[in-house]
Amino acid sequence: MTDDSRHQPGPKTPVGDFSVASARGGVPLLGHAAQLLFKPLDFLASLPDQGDLVKIRMGPWPVHVVCHPELVHRLLASDRCFDKGGPLYDRLRDLIGDGLASCPYAIHRRRRRLVQPAFHHTRLPLYATVMTRQIDETTSSWADGQVLDLRNELTGLATRVLSRTIFTADFSGPAIAALIPYAELITSKLSWRLLWDAALKGVPTPGKRHFTRTTEELRSAVYTMARRYRASDTDHGDLMSMLLSARDDDGSGLTDAEIFAEVVTMVLAGTGTVPNTLSWAFHSLAQHPDIEKRLHSEVDEVLGGRCATWDDLPALPLTGRIFTEAMRHFPSDWLVTRVTTEDTEVAGLRLAAGSVVAYSGQVVHRRPDVYPQPDLFLPDRWLDTGRKPPRGAFLSFGGGARKCIGDKFGTIEGVLALSTIAARWRLEPARPGRSRSTSSSRRSARPPAMRLVARG
Ligand code: HEM
Repeated sequence: MTDDSRHQPGPKTPVGDFSVASARGGVPLLGHAAQLLFKPLDFLASLPDQGDLVKIRMGPWPVHVVCHPELVHRLLASDRCFDKGGPLYDRLRDLIGDGLASCPYAIHRRRRRLVQPAFHHTRLPLYATVMTRQIDETTSSWADGQVLDLRNELTGLATRVLSRTIFTADFSGPAIAALIPYAELITSKLSWRLLWDAALKGVPTPGKRHFTRTTEELRSAVYTMARRYRASDTDHGDLMSMLLSARDDDGSGLTDAEIFAEVVTMVLAGTGTVPNTLSWAFHSLAQHPDIEKRLHSEVDEVLGGRCATWDDLPALPLTGRIFTEAMRHFPSDWLVTRVTTEDTEVAGLRLAAGSVVAYSGQVVHRRPDVYPQPDLFLPDRWLDTGRKPPRGAFLSFGGGARKCIGDKFGTIEGVLALSTIAARWRLEPARPGRSRSTSSSRRSARPPAMRLVARG
């Protein structure tokens, strides 16, 4: 059956084990843009009740959202058929070239093989040392009673962590100096900038010129670093050294342009997610004093007010579960898209080549059949009871060949930061009334501001 004949608005149509539907509430021209703009989380969470594969429309563009874990698993397992693509990725490629997160299937396998050693488990203790130092500095600079936009504050921290895990050589100062403002620019404005540029293709605007100039400054700094690292012929124990030493079977390595694309990719992929998860975790802890109390006993016993290190990680299991539950409850990516490279079938529905298909943690993580009482923040659901979520059901790091390469890096950073902050500070909502209304389920796209209360 074809897309048009099956996707009629209204009740879902069962096909074999799965059902397809068109999302309710679409309007001519805008489609579901209003729901996505004003109530994205409620809208996405409502999709599984409508079908296992649900067509939504972003303006005129149809997007097929895969709502059943088994279908998500099949999507992620077929990265050749469901490839990265679309106008945003095209624009990103114009700007930085092909990086691991955005490159097409045709070059992904080689690139992943070359970048993977930089995230090998033997490198992680070194990266954790950088994290500990930055977390210590940041959390020691805070003051009792201070009100924080926690996500912004932690984005600054994650950017410093990442720039200092990419470049540790003693001559890295200029590259770090170029990287930090660039990271701020892309983490705060990138999606808008790319959308805007894609819409105004070929039209020079001041914003576009500024963006291009800052990109070129960073490109030049990275090229200079690549030259100096090669000349120093030393393993500095950082990401840059690993990217430079990566070799293909034929002995060739990454070019300077590819290294630049990977540096920007790391910054893009690695600086937004941990702060987002942490700020929602603290928001949830403020709503659940019982869990907060248990966390405080764990970190007081293990850390006693000092900053957490790599060696402390095994002694912080509750902190780890809180971080995982925050990733489930508040996934960073709401809608992750793929484009079909050939005619194919999903849930019995024929999709033509070029169709946009998407998965979302916000959809699957809210299914009560997979996560009982999905709207509750329950870290102990991750206690090792021998029952893991089914495949395709935990999407915080994606899955298949395009699964997050920084999953361990991000989790270590998250657990070190969460435990250290909790050991030193209690965070309470800066505007308690407003926060209570968001207690059990997330209604807002942005975590509210928090006030610091010194502990100990
Ligand atoms: C809690 C933290 C993190 C979360 C929740 C997260 C989430 C994700 C997700 C959902 C994807 C898959 C996107 C897709 O299917 O298209 C992904 C891919 C990726 N992530 Fe992460 N990420 C985190 C931390 C990091 C860090 C710290 C880095 C780098 C330092 C990183 C680098 C990447 C890269 C390079 C990819 C693309 C992998 C590929 O296509 O082969 N991530 N991440």
